[in-house]
Amino acid sequence: MKKLTAADPETKSPDLAAANLAALRALFPELVTEGPDGVAVNVDVLKQLVGDKTVTDAEEKYGLNWHGKRRARQLALTPSTGTLRPCPEDSVDWDTTQNLMIEGDNLEVLKLLQKSYAGKVKLIYIDPPYNTGKDFVYPDNFQDNIKNYLELTGQTGEGGRKLSSNTEASGRFHTDWLNMMYPRLKLARNLLREDGVILISIDDAEVANVRRIADEVFGEENFMAVLVWDRNRKNDAKYFSVGHEYMLGYFKNESLLAATQTVFRGQKDGVDEVKAEFERLRKETGGDWDRVRKGILDFYAKIPADDPRFPLTRFTKIDEKGPYRDDGNINWPGGDGPRYEVLHPTTKQACKLPISGWRYPKPERFWEEVGKGRIVFGPDETTVPRVRTNLFENSDQVMVSVHYSYAQTSANQFNALFDGKRVFDNPKPVDDLRRLVAYLTGPDDLVCDFFAGSGSTGHGVFLQNVADNGHRRFVLVQLPELLDPTDKDQKVAAEFCSELGQPLTIAELTKERLRRAGKKIREENPLFAGDLGFRVFKLASSNIRAWEPDRDKLAETLEASIEHLKTDRTEQDILFELLLKLGLDLCVPIEMKKIGKHEVHSIGAGTVLACLSEKIPQSTVEPLALGLVAWHKELKPAGETTVVFRDSAFADDVAKTNLTAILQQHGLETVRSL
Ligand SMILES: C[S@@+](CC[C@H](N)C(=O)[O-])C[C@H]1O[C@@H](n2cnc3c(N)ncnc32)[C@H](O)[C@@H]1O
Repeated sequence: MKKLTAADPETKSPDLAAANLAALRALFPELVTEGPDGVAVNVDVLKQLVGDKTVTDAEEKYGLNWHGKRRARQLALTPSTGTLRPCPEDSVDWDTTQNLMIEGDNLEVLKLLQKSYAGKVKLIYIDPPYNTGKDFVYPDNFQDNIKNYLELTGQTGEGGRKLSSNTEASGRFHTDWLNMMYPRLKLARNLLREDGVILISIDDAEVANVRRIADEVFGEENFMAVLVWDRNRKNDAKYFSVGHEYMLGYFKNESLLAATQTVFRGQKDGVDEVKAEFERLRKETGGDWDRVRKGILDFYAKIPADDPRFPLTRFTKIDEKGPYRDDGNINWPGGDGPRYEVLHPTTKQACKLPISGWRYPKPERFWEEVGKGRIVFGPDETTVPRVRTNLFENSDQVMVSVHYSYAQTSANQFNALFDGKRVFDNPKPVDDLRRLVAYLTGPDDLVCDFFAGSGSTGHGVFLQNVADNGHRRFVLVQLPELLDPTDKDQKVAAEFCSELGQPLTIAELTKERLRRAGKKIREENPLFAGDLGFRVFKLASSNIRAWEPDRDKLAETLEASIEHLKTDRTEQDILFELLLKLGLDLCVPIEMKKIGKHEVHSIGAGTVLACLSEKIPQSTVEPLALGLVAWHKELKPAGETTVVFRDSAFADDVAKTNLTAILQQHGLETVRSL
């Protein structure tokens, strides 16, 4: 027996407004829309539908609009008041790595990265929440987004606000999601290199809206493709088993790629694996081609028909050039081709002509191909010669727009990394990401994913670097989204974090995934000397104290504001904020040296020289200044150097002026205090 509660619709009087809305929606679906406070009726449309001719078209414009769009655009332009605090203890190979894993809300992080990484990223891949009605959509706060972030993630306040999912019933379903996505895409565009590309994973829930906003942000002319990614079979589906998702691709500047005649080519799926097996068999059999062939056919037999590598199984013949097929058509492609005479090499009789003539315009070209072993004659002139294709010679191809990659396979691979535990739902298949990285980036490029989830993109970059000995770098951003141990879907992940002795957040999973992936790759590829580490940074409020007067304690606030760096922050925190604000890479080397009692840091081989001592007594001003000058001479930085001190370190203005004067006399013109 169902117990009725006050929340049950049966205990309430009918919701007449909802009933009216439903009736209107059934009659005129175009009337009902999303407004600032939820579901709304478009009164202009209603007027028109009842024949009111007073409605004009003055307001009509092409494009997608929603409540808050202007504000979302503004949000992208508002500077962040945050910083990124280094976290070497969570990192791997802190001193040498060039990869970044940043914990934080990606809107703020993208803002902070603008100076250092604008125009530097070759590939951005994102897999945002799909807005299926079950996932939460990050609620930005226009007033104070850092405070909002710290509260939401439980870093201040009372243990984190419950992140509720964005439901269709909210009446702001698409609005909230669009408001979240729009400023992030705008900031992402700035990070892309002129020849860069962005790929956005999405499904049917928001594909239409992503297409519209991405057209707007990146320009319709920069649209690249909608890739279809078939991942599941849903036998319980009502009408169609929709198991695919999409990836929308945009160029930063297609015209540049067109002008430089850039084409994308990637290796056919699985060719590397066949090559490795071929080499193994060749060695094992001492080049016994019958046995090599048998081994390769056994290898093919394990490839299922719906596997992307399946087309390779047509290369069934083998010789020293590897697997090949010699049944290729030699016909002129379409219409009437050339019909010259070709004499069979043994019978010396004219070979049978292909139906539409020879594929090669001139006999010379035909014989050139014969010389290269690419044409095979039949036993006599009565059969048309065929084209031979060697698998290892023709392994480049333009990628198709439909991918088959079953979610379960990738989930199993992922779970294996976590001792079989299912700590993350729907991680993207790492090998698909590796292939996209291989296809769209060169070996020294920078890749970014600011909805990193379990870190699949970082793992894909590691793997591709191993495959081609590359030096690609990544920047991942992931929210420390709180995991709730009482939620059945998050329990395993929360317990896993507890066992690690870490906070219960998704960002902990991202870092652990990268650690485990790097370790496994190192074990499996002992000769690989490349970078499998990452530096961790965490979003926080700036190290520089904001002026926040407290009316009741004005004297104390004034006193405290003399030290305008926060006292609970380390020198390293301040150095990295400097680095960000000056637009330097977060992986530039930092060296430390002592000048007298003072620790002095050189960032980026002398681009910045910083002494953050809390006190610089009068007596040490001159030796410190001269020591800095000497170090600067030694470092010989290419560009200008900025020298930075702590403002409160000086006894008085005279000391500050003296030090500046000495530095400037020796060519160090840019001196700043914090
Ligand atoms: C669909 S998942 C990405 C999955 C990932 N591609 C993988 O293979 O594991 C989206 C992720 O974005 C994160 N996210 C949502 N809002 C965010 C925000 N404002 N800043 C950073 N990350 C966010 C969520 O916590 C979630 O882990």
